[in-house]
Amino acid sequence: MHLSHIEHIGIAVHDLESAREKYRRLLGVEPYAEEEVASEGVKTVFFKVGPNKIELLGALHPESPVARFLEKKGEGLHHVAYRTENIVAEMQRLQEAGFKLLSETPKPGAENMWVCFVHPKDAQGVLTELCQPRL
Ligand code: CO
Repeated sequence: MHLSHIEHIGIAVHDLESAREKYRRLLGVEPYAEEEVASEGVKTVFFKVGPNKIELLGALHPESPVARFLEKKGEGLHHVAYRTENIVAEMQRLQEAGFKLLSETPKPGAENMWVCFVHPKDAQGVLTELCQPRL
């Protein structure tokens, strides 16, 4: 079991309403889902482009990790998410290889997924997400 494909790309935005409108016009499609993930302090808007997904992320409150990201780096690429059918095995593989995971166990994420993040320092500056559909 390894990573099968890029599940989505996450983009941090200051104003989710205007970003939704901008991306609606950019991609030429309506968003297919919107969801708050309270545990991460974010609200998400999802677009589909063929088989690929774009996730816009806005902060729900100033202490949200996305709010801190926006403060430090501004808007833009926030994370790349990879799909796996066995997130626990992938987390173990990465831990054994010396990667720093941001949680010890998978956490519930958007779109009914289990997720775990790898520290951006261990991925050339890109926050890396593993995700597996929850049954
Ligand atoms: Co994501």
